Formats: sequence, structure tokens, C-alpha cells
Amino acid sequence: MRAPAKLNLALSVGDLREDGYHELTTVFQAVGLYDEVVLSRAEELTVTVEDGPGATGSGDVPLDATNLAVRAVALAAATTGQDPRVAVHITKGIPVSGGCAGGSADAAAALVGCDALWGTGLSREELTALAAELGSDVPFSVHGGTALGTGRGHQLTEVLEQGDYSWVLAVSDGGLSTPAVYAELDRQREAGTADVAADPGEVLSALRQGDAVALGRALGNDLQQPALTLRPPLRAVLDGARQLGALGAIVSGSGPTVAVLARDDAHAGALAAALASSGICSDVRRAEGPVTGARVVEAR
Ligand code: C5P
Repeated sequence: MRAPAKLNLALSVGDLREDGYHELTTVFQAVGLYDEVVLSRAEELTVTVEDGPGATGSGDVPLDATNLAVRAVALAAATTGQDPRVAVHITKGIPVSGGCAGGSADAAAALVGCDALWGTGLSREELTALAAELGSDVPFSVHGGTALGTGRGHQLTEVLEQGDYSWVLAVSDGGLSTPAVYAELDRQREAGTADVAADPGEVLSALRQGDAVALGRALGNDLQQPALTLRPPLRAVLDGARQLGALGAIVSGSGPTVAVLARDDAHAGALAAALASSGICSDVRRAEGPVTGARVVEAR
């Protein structure tokens, strides 16, 4: 199985709901940076994790029942009446706790993978409903492409779009906790110091026209300011990317990964090289978007 990273091209955060989640309007795009997930029948339900080529951070992924892929297997088994004893092996290509939905990708791959392993023939709707129980981003990780997310971010609508986009992802050492970033936004809003950054309408219009320059200008994320408060060095990554001629640069989701939009593939190569040698981020990865969601790449 293979499941992609996601970026939020616009992330507009609304009110805090009674269930502890925030009302979101977000434009997701799946990009070609992947986790690989291998599922095989086993004596018990287990998970192991390793770093993919060039990646680090797999040591921070929980290996107990809280692992999102393990929860996905358990949920799929309970729903379909199948035996949950599956060995899950994850090779991380997506930054861990990086704001790119790496855990959600693993959960999406596990759901789609169990369905294939067991031949349970779940419909897209059934998979999406299970995905929403596991986390706000998991339905999108199943879906892929580019989509508008509302509710907790789990209700997806197709968007009209054209074009492929070349991204450079500036990866930081050490993740950020998503609940901590949302809590910092709430604190800033209460103190009256939060700015409203995201306009999903502008992003949707740029995507409709396939206009990368307009998209670069429209990128916006209400979680960016709180992420910068919690991780001040990210400011240098955003500024550095813009100075190097990026069309736009934005903290991805709750961060700390920064998504940098290039004009095209060659420009992405140049930007990646310049960012890597600048020393302002710990690693850079390149990824094209949009790409499809969680998929079986090889049945063993
Ligand atoms: O749904 P997921 O488990 O990915 O969300 C992680 C955390 O992010 C939640 O516990 C919550 O603190 C925050 N969150 C939120 N509003 C959303 C999505 C996530 O406050 N719509």
C-alpha cells in the first residue's frame, strides 16, 4: 500500500465546537511524498516502523494500540467481522508530526489495505465513514487529489481544478503537536492577536484557472501564526523561500513542515538545492501534486 502526504493550500479555522474540534474550511491537496504500508496476516496485531530513504523520525511513531494504522485495522476488523491479527509494517516517507497527515496516510492505507487483504469489498462511502472515525484528515488521505474539506475537515467536496504543481517541502527536526497549535490559535483569538490568514475562495479560483502564480499568492493558513509562535525559527524558512523566488510558502497544516510552491519542475529543483544549502531547514523533499489517495501498489 502507498498513501500520500497532504498539504492544506488554504486552512480557514472557524469556531471551537462543543466536541473540542474546530469548524474548518480547507482546500487539501495530496502530493507525491509517500508512506508505504505492508499488511500481512500474523499471530497478533502488531506494527513496526522504519524510515524510508532520506527520512528520519520513525522512532517517534507509537507502536502500541494508539498507532493510527493499528486503530484502523481494529476498526475495519470490528466492522467487517474479520480477524484483526495483521502485521503492519510502515516505511515512513512523510515527515512525522509534520503537518502533512503522515499518521492519517498510514490509517488510510491500513483501511484500504485490509479491505483488499480480506476481500471485504467496502464501498468508497463505507471506507470514508470509517476513515472519519479515525481522524479529521483520514477521509482525504483515502480520497487524494484536491478537495474542499468542511466540518472537522472530514466532509469532502470535489473541486474544479487543472494543472500540476511543483512543491518543495522544507522539513524541520521535531514535530509540532496539532492540539497544541489549535490551542495556541484559541489563545491568540481570545487575546485578540490572531490574524485571519486564509481565503479558500482565492485558492479555489486559482486552482480552477490552473494559475500557479495566483495560487502562490493565495496560499493561507490560520494555523501558521500559532505554529510560528510555538516554533519561531520557521519564520526564517518562510522568508528564505520567498527571497529565493518561490511563488508562495506556507506552513503545512499545524506544521512545522513548510510547503514552498515553485513555478515548475526545474524551478523546484533550484529552490530545493538553495533551501538545502541555506541551512534554515533540516531537510528538503520535492513532491508534485495532485496525486491519488491510498492505493494498493502490490498484492503479495
Ligand atoms: O482529528 P484529529 O485526531 O486528526 O485531530 C487532532 C487534533 O487536532 C484534535 O484533537 C483537535 O485538538 C485538533 N483539531 C481541531 N479541529 C479540527 C481538526 C483537528 O481542533 N477540525
